[in-house]
Amino acid sequence: MTSRILLTGGAGYIGSHTHVALVAAGHDVVILDNFANAQRTVPERLEQITGKRVTLVEGDVRDADTLAKLFARHEIDAVVHFAALKAVGESMARPLAYFDVNIGGLSTLLRAMDNAGCRRLVFSSSATVYGIPDEAPTPETAPFRAMNPYGQTKITGEQMLGWLQAANPEWAVGILRYFNPAGAHGSALIGEDPRDIPNNLMPFVAKVALGELPRVSVFGNDYDTADGTGVRDYIHVEDLARGHVLSLEKLLSTRQGHIVNLGTGRGYSVLEVIAAYQRATNRDIPYQITDRRPGDVPIYVARADRAVEVLGFRTEKGLDEMCASSWKWVSGLAGKA
Ligand code: NAD
Ligand code: WQD
Repeated sequence: MTSRILLTGGAGYIGSHTHVALVAAGHDVVILDNFANAQRTVPERLEQITGKRVTLVEGDVRDADTLAKLFARHEIDAVVHFAALKAVGESMARPLAYFDVNIGGLSTLLRAMDNAGCRRLVFSSSATVYGIPDEAPTPETAPFRAMNPYGQTKITGEQMLGWLQAANPEWAVGILRYFNPAGAHGSALIGEDPRDIPNNLMPFVAKVALGELPRVSVFGNDYDTADGTGVRDYIHVEDLARGHVLSLEKLLSTRQGHIVNLGTGRGYSVLEVIAAYQRATNRDIPYQITDRRPGDVPIYVARADRAVEVLGFRTEKGLDEMCASSWKWVSGLAGKA
C-alpha cells in the first residue's frame, strides 16, 4: 500500500538515502529541510536516481506555522524525523543550539502531528544513548548514559516519545538507534556532505585517500581491543535506509511501537577501516597514532537480533562495499571540483 511519508531533514545524509528507499518501495515522500547541513543539489539528484519529482518544503522544523501548513496541504500518514544537529564536539560548545533544534524541534513537530491526527513517527536515535556501555555487543535494554549534550538530546527525545505513547495509544513510534553509518548510494549521486574537515573516521580517511589531508590521526592504540584501536559497528547507509522503510511499514500495518538497534552486529577497528579503504582505493593511506580523543568509547557494537525479530531487518552490505561506495562518491566530487 502506498503511504505518504514526511521526512524532516530529508535532504541530509541518511534522509536522502531513505528517500530513495521509500520511493523504491512505492511510497510518496515529502521532504522538509532548511538546508542547514545539506547541499542544494540533493533534490535534483534524488529526481535523477528515482525518476520521480521531489516534493520539497524548505523550512525549519521549529517553525509551527510551516508545519501546520505542510500537514494541511499534504495528507501525511507517518513522519521520519531526521532533522537535528549531530556533531558531538559542537554540542559541548553550543549546548543551547542542540537543545533548541533537537528537543525544541521534536516538540514542535509532535504538536503539529498531533493537531493533524498523524501519530506515527520514526525517530533517528543513536548508539550514543548508551554512553560507555557495560557490554558489547550492546542490547537495547542497556541503560541510558549521556556523555555530551548531543547524546542527552537523543535520550530526552526517546523519553518524550515514551511518555507520549503512554498518554495516548494512538501514537506509535519506531525508535531506531543507529550505530556508525558509512558509505554512499551506489549511483554516487548522493552521499555524506563533505563541507568541513570531517570529525568521523570514514569521511576523514576518504580525504586522506584523495590527498586533501596528509594523514589519519588514529586516536589511541591502547584500548582493550584486538589491535588497541577503537572498534565500531559500521552500517552501510543503504542498509540503514531500508531499516527505515521496514520500521515505517511496521508502524503503518500494526501500530506497534518499537526500539531497535540498527547495526550489523560486527565491529571493525580503526586500523581495519584504514586497511579496507586502502584496498578499495588502491591508494596509500598514511596514518599516525595519536592520543585518545577525550570522551571516546572503546567499543560500540550492536546486538542486532531485535531488529531481525521485530522488523525482519538484516544488513546486506559489508565494510568493503561501504569503502568502495564512499570512494566512488568522494572521488566523483573531487573530479568535478
Ligand atoms: P545530516 O546533517 O546530514 O542531516 C540532517 C538534515 O536535517 C540536514 O539536511 C539539515 O539541513 C536538516 N536540518 C537541520 N536542522 C534543521 C531544522 N531546524 N529544520 C529543518 N531541517 C533541519 O545528518 P544525518 O547524518 O543524515 O543524521 C540524520 C539523523 O540521524 C540526525 O537526527 C542524527 O542525529 C541521527 N544520527 C546520525 C548518525 C550519523 O553518524 N550520521 C548516527 C546516529 C544518529
Ligand atoms: C570512529 C572511531 C575514533 C576519527 C560519532 C558520534 C556518535 C554518532 C556517530 C551520531 C573511533 C576513531 C575517528 C579520526 C580516529 N553520531 N577515529 N581518527 O565516535 O563512534 O561516533 O559518530 O549519533 O554520536 O559520537 O564515530 O567516526 O568519530 O569514530 O581514530 O580522525 O574512529 O576514535 O574509535 P564515533 P567516529
